[in-house]
Amino acid sequence: MIDDVSEILIAEEELQARAVELGRAISLDYADKPLLLVCILKGGHIFLADLVRAITISLEIDFMAVSSYGTGDRSSGTVKIVKDISTSVHDKHVLIVEDIVDTGRTLRRIREGLMARGANSVRICCLLRKAKRQNLAIHLDYLGFEIPDRFAVGYGLDYSEMYRNLPFIGILRSEKYR
Ligand code: IMP
Ligand code: MG
Repeated sequence: MIDDVSEILIAEEELQARAVELGRAISLDYADKPLLLVCILKGGHIFLADLVRAITISLEIDFMAVSSYGTGDRSSGTVKIVKDISTSVHDKHVLIVEDIVDTGRTLRRIREGLMARGANSVRICCLLRKAKRQNLAIHLDYLGFEIPDRFAVGYGLDYSEMYRNLPFIGILRSEKYR
């Protein structure tokens, strides 16, 4: 599996250190507020696990799964909720935990949906953003790293459902997805 990666973009230690920094910032910003973290599956699950252990205030966790990319490396153009949260967002401060923003379509759609359900606030904590002109500008309240506009795998991110278990963020060899 590791031979399919051409380059390590972000090492395991850097990912963990950044999750700790973000967790500390979130702990300060949400002190005394009812906080609900909504992790976007499947890609956000490893980031969530590191992030929540660095947050020192009480919080709830729920999960939502959406499909936007199908199984390949291109966006399908529509965002569908495949699994919804089971917690009420009413009067809570929601923080979406996501792996990566590319066009911004997925996060925009999720944020709009959660606002419409009566959340007190909806903010976004995203591990990675691709450095390019965004099709839909989306404000990220907490961002881990900006990366080049290439296809990233590992630390939760997949290509065709594989490579999520790599402990770092890497670039897949191009012959693996062509
Ligand atoms: P967007 O809707 O175009 O912003 O795409 C965001 C979603 O596409 C993320 O939730 C990921 O699941 C997926 N995605 C985008 N870029 C990558 C990548 O480089 N590697 C793995 N998944 C990606
Ligand atoms: Mg995702």
